[in-house]
Amino acid sequence: MKFNAPRGTNDILPPASFKWQYVEQKTKEILLAYNYDEIRTPLFEYTELFQRGIGEATDVVEKEMYTFEDKGGRSITLRPEGTASVMRSYMENKIYGQAQPTKYFYMGPMFRYERPQAGRSRQFNQLGVEAIGSHDPALDAEVISLGIYLLEALGLNDLELYINSIGCVECRPAYISILKKFLNSHHEKLCDECALRIDKNPLRVLDCKNKSCQTIVEDAPLITDHLCNDCEDHFAEVKKYLDFLEVEYIVLPSLVRGLDYYTNTAFEVKYAGLGAQDTIFGGGRYNGLAQEIGGRDIPGIGFAIGIERLILTLEAQDIKLGAENGIDLYLTVIGDKAKKVAFGLTDELRKNNFRVEIDYLDRSVRSQMKSADRMNAEYTIIMGEDELKNNTATIRNMVSGEEAEFKLDRIVDKMKELVD
Ligand code: HAM
Repeated sequence: MKFNAPRGTNDILPPASFKWQYVEQKTKEILLAYNYDEIRTPLFEYTELFQRGIGEATDVVEKEMYTFEDKGGRSITLRPEGTASVMRSYMENKIYGQAQPTKYFYMGPMFRYERPQAGRSRQFNQLGVEAIGSHDPALDAEVISLGIYLLEALGLNDLELYINSIGCVECRPAYISILKKFLNSHHEKLCDECALRIDKNPLRVLDCKNKSCQTIVEDAPLITDHLCNDCEDHFAEVKKYLDFLEVEYIVLPSLVRGLDYYTNTAFEVKYAGLGAQDTIFGGGRYNGLAQEIGGRDIPGIGFAIGIERLILTLEAQDIKLGAENGIDLYLTVIGDKAKKVAFGLTDELRKNNFRVEIDYLDRSVRSQMKSADRMNAEYTIIMGEDELKNNTATIRNMVSGEEAEFKLDRIVDKMKELVD
């Protein structure tokens, strides 16, 4: 019997896991500075939360959810995204009673039954932020510029930010009926899926990847020409604030998002070098979501970065993350007595924050040195009977070849002196 990881899932092994840790640590520092606190919601929720929050007619709810009945007969779904859960938690815990806006971030796995390919998996990770409780367009600009800054701080270049406004409950219905009329008149040239979308979710036709649909969509009426005054003003302010922060963007009137809760500002950041799955992150306002799932009128805005895609972009741009170093010291031992002493020294060094390794396979000095090499040890020490007798040993820098003698009972001081 041989087991493989389920299709669409990935093991994140070292050294790749160093990259993940680096990204997590670096982004957390920035999120703290922007005053976003961590929220951790369950990995599964009652199915209805996503049906109502994300929308019945979306691809995510229609085709991509991991849904099952638990032993109590309740319908449970592994979270396909984080926003609905965060808003559920916000309402359930009456966070609206605290100082507003509330600013959260989260990192963790999401689950969607999609066709796996480069940059698209069935279990993937998101770094998301949600700023809840304010309509202020300055907050839209904060959220967008934070997303861009997170990527730039990791060293990424050549990112393209697309923004749009997709209106609100006041202006969108009128636009949708104009759009439906237009799409119906080109019905026969749309792909099968889009032909079905005209009634259920016509906005999605606007970002269909099919060539023939794209040609038709070029002449489609634009939401930005049909916004109500409030939405138009809001969008104008968002752009002003982005200009003020010198965040570069492209207004893309055909930009719609795959989840139904969005209102007003919608945005996506792409890196062309990623191929078909080129969206590193997406987000927008969701002023109707709280109403939909909790009956209260509370606005929100946020985004989620796909961490797998972020890491692919770092690799595509050949950006080295400074965390993939080897160990500080490998203690090579000859004989049982030396091993015991070295074992104690290893423990002492580790408790002083040095990354130290020792042999656990009773190997020859040569094989131990090979291990030291494989672990990218910066220093090695060989310890045998003589070293014990004299209480001194020689430490060797594996790159320069330089050697230095030191007293064994001063090993921590010696390492402090040597290791930066
Ligand atoms: P989303 O556009 O569905 O938005 O996903 C956000 C990001 O997650 C995508 O841009 C992509 O990088 C990554 N992603 C999505 N699906 C996959 C997949 N199957 N494999 C790998 N990466 C994937 C949301 O999820 C919203 N909750 C974002 C948001 C937060 N809006 C407001 N607040």
